[in-house]
Amino acid sequence: MQVQIGRIKKDIDAIGEFTATPGKGITRLTFSQEYEKARSYIVEELRKIDAKVSITVAGNLRGRLEGSDKGKPVVMLGSHIDSVYQGGRFDGVVGVVSALEAARVIVDNNIAHRYPIDVVVFPEEEGSRFGSILVGSRAWAGKLSLDELSRLKDEQGIDYLKAMKQMDITPEDENILIPEQVKAMLELHIEQSLVLESKSLKIGVVEAIAGIRQFSVTLNGVSNHAGATPMSLRFDALQGAAEIISAVEDIANQHARKSTVATVGFLKCEPGQANVIPGRVQFTLDIRDTDSGSLDETVEKITTLIANTCQNRGLTYNLEPRSDTPPVVLSEKMVHLIERIARKRKLGTLRMISGALHDSSILAELTDVGMIFIPSKRGRSHCPEEFTDIGDIELGANVLLETAIELAT
Ligand code: GLV
Ligand code: MN
Ligand code: MN
Repeated sequence: MQVQIGRIKKDIDAIGEFTATPGKGITRLTFSQEYEKARSYIVEELRKIDAKVSITVAGNLRGRLEGSDKGKPVVMLGSHIDSVYQGGRFDGVVGVVSALEAARVIVDNNIAHRYPIDVVVFPEEEGSRFGSILVGSRAWAGKLSLDELSRLKDEQGIDYLKAMKQMDITPEDENILIPEQVKAMLELHIEQSLVLESKSLKIGVVEAIAGIRQFSVTLNGVSNHAGATPMSLRFDALQGAAEIISAVEDIANQHARKSTVATVGFLKCEPGQANVIPGRVQFTLDIRDTDSGSLDETVEKITTLIANTCQNRGLTYNLEPRSDTPPVVLSEKMVHLIERIARKRKLGTLRMISGALHDSSILAELTDVGMIFIPSKRGRSHCPEEFTDIGDIELGANVLLETAIELAT
C-alpha cells in the first residue's frame, strides 16, 4: 500500500499559503484567520472521505473513520498546524497531511479495519499565541482545565476560549481522553536537526522526547537618566539580565549531560531608549533535558542564579512558569513495529531522542506512542529555510500508513 505523494504535496502547498507573513516564512498562530483557513482545508479534505469530523475539548480537531468492531479503542494519527513566528512549512503540517493521506488511502482501497482511526490536529502546540506549549493535547488529556484555558492570554489579552469562540470553534465533545479509549498514537514529524542527514538515513524512530521547563522572567530596576546617574548608583535591569543570560549558557554547557539545553529566545527592554537606564526587562527561559533529575537540577541552578544576581544588583524579579512537561520514554513495542515496517520497505532506521517537543509526549502518558522522523535539510527548523525533500516525506508517510494499518486491523 502506498500514499499518493502528489496529494500530500498539494496539501502542503495549500496550507503553506496560509501565513500572516507572506514571503517571510509561516506565521500561523492558533485560532488566527490563517489558522482557520488551514483548519478548514483539513476539514474539507476529511469530509471528502466521509470521515466523521468533530471538535473536542480546547479545539482539537478529530476526523474519524469508524472501525468495523464496536467499542474498540482508537488509533490516532496526527500533529499540529500552528507555527512559530516566521517558521517553516513542514513542522507539524507534514504529520497532519500524512495522517490525512493515510486515511484517504485506507478509504480509497476499502481497507478493512476493526479499530477506529482518528486524524487529529492539536491546536497551540508551539505556544506562540498563548505562551504555553502543547495546549490542545494537554487539555484533551485532562491536564489543563477550562479555567486554566481561560487564564491563557495572547498579547492583546484575548483568552484561549474567547479566541476559539471568535473563530466559531465550538467543542462538540468535551470528554477528556482516557487510556482505555486510545489504542495508539502515531506522529510523523520532520527531525528538526542534522542527525539523519549526516548519516544519510531517511527514517528516525523516536525512543524518547525531552522534557521542558519554560519561564517568563521579569527583572525590575530603576529607570533613570543615562547621563546624570553615576555607575555606582544605578539599578539597571538590562545589565542584570545580561549577566543572567550569559551564565545560563555556561550552566547548560557545563552540565555533564550533553542533553541539557537552555535558551533565552525573547527579550524586551523598557523603556527602550538610548539615553534611559532600563528599568524593566522581560525575557523567556526554555530549559530542556531528557533526564528529569538533570532538568530539575538545571532549573534549580538557574533560579538560584537569578535570585543571587538580583540581590547583588538591588533588583527585584518575578519568575512565572509557562510550561512544564516531563521527559518521556516512548513505547518499545512501537519502536519495534516502526523499525520492522521500515526494514520491510528496505529503509535504514536510527533510534533517536527528540529534543523538540511534540503533542505525542502528552499522549505517551495515556497510550503507546510511535514517532517517525524524516530528515530536515541542513537541520534547519523554526525558520523560513525549513525544508524536507518531498521524496523523504513520501517514505515517512508510507511507513506511517503501513504502521497505522497494522495497528488498526
Ligand atoms: C516545539 O516545536 C518545541 O519543541 O518547542
Ligand atoms: Mn515546532
Ligand atoms: Mn512540531
